[in-house]
Amino acid sequence: MGKILVTGATGFIGTHLVNKLIEKGADISIFVRDQKKIDKEWVKKTKVYEGDITNKDSLSLISKDIDVVFHLAAVNVHKTPRSEEEKKYLYEVNVKGAKNILESLAGCLKHFIFLSSISVYDGVESSKELEENSEVKPNNAYGESKLICERLVAEYGKKYGFMTTSLRIPFAYGPGNKGNIFKMIDAISKRRFFLIGRGDNKRSSVYVGNVVDSALSVVGKEIANGKVYIVTDDINYSVKELYMTISESLGRKPILFHLPLGIAKIFAKVGDSVEKFFPGLFPLNSEILRKLTCTFCLSSNKIKEEIGFSPKYDFYNTISETISWYKKIRG
Ligand SMILES: NC(=O)c1ccc[n+]([C@@H]2O[C@H](COP(=O)([O-])OP(=O)(O)OC[C@H]3O[C@@H](n4cnc5c(N)ncnc54)[C@H](OP(=O)(O)O)[C@@H]3O)[C@@H](O)[C@H]2O)c1
Repeated sequence: MGKILVTGATGFIGTHLVNKLIEKGADISIFVRDQKKIDKEWVKKTKVYEGDITNKDSLSLISKDIDVVFHLAAVNVHKTPRSEEEKKYLYEVNVKGAKNILESLAGCLKHFIFLSSISVYDGVESSKELEENSEVKPNNAYGESKLICERLVAEYGKKYGFMTTSLRIPFAYGPGNKGNIFKMIDAISKRRFFLIGRGDNKRSSVYVGNVVDSALSVVGKEIANGKVYIVTDDINYSVKELYMTISESLGRKPILFHLPLGIAKIFAKVGDSVEKFFPGLFPLNSEILRKLTCTFCLSSNKIKEEIGFSPKYDFYNTISETISWYKKIRG
């Protein structure tokens, strides 16, 4: 695999990726904002660079002897930024930061692997599985920044003669992630979760181990050069299936009450109005409701067919691990 650099190593996916690379005995460097965040074992087994991807000077310290970059560093606090300043910062890190890395290592690289997102699609209800060549139409600044980067990465690869691959990831879950699944586990554990509508809408998602395995599977493969691949668990889960699986794993009896969609829509409208004055205060708004109730599925056939990647993990064979981690951090 050669000499590897991981940016965003202290993040959710980065942590799993670096642990896997260490396990494989790879020659790894990591670029982190804060050395204090890293595991003691990593200090012994990786070369650590501290800096900020928006600061070219800190990137200039990285050795020019790097073959493969996994570029994971990005911000995504609010996919739709709440102020112009927040939006500027998102582009500064996600686009300019990526450009800085590409420029500082272009001369030595063999393969640049970029973690993109399915936010490049419009996220509107789709009964048919979307593919890599489906229309891209981001509906938020985060998705826009990822699409700009996919194109930038491919452009730099062509210009400087190194391979590039972008992986489009849906929401990723697993130990270390405090996103949607964590919140769902927490709400079910506290008996505060109930289904909106029938809960039979489906969404693609991906276990973090599959993201890591897919990223490693493309390294050095000529066929992956200049390509974009969607990576999922290859299962589209309904909200109800997730709910039943988590409830069973937590030993909680599922609540049979379903909030009718019509009533949820009224709450969401109230949330929209409250949001204008007090962002984040109300638990539901039209955007959250849409995400909770729409079907949005993607196909990962291309990476399976071209690379031979086959996801090992799914929600069912990893839920106990995720719940153990949840219990550990909740005390
Ligand atoms: N998780 C998902 O569901 C998902 C889905 C689709 C795509 N992705 C993409 O996958 C990648 C990894 O996601 P993740 O969930 O692991 O994200 P994460 O947990 O938020 O981690 C982001 C990482 O980027 C680093 N970072 C942020 N700004 C930086 C800067 N200015 N300079 C240097 N490093 C910086 C963070 O450092 P600190 O630790 O110092 O904050 C952290 O290590 C991201 O590119 C994300 O957009 C993730």
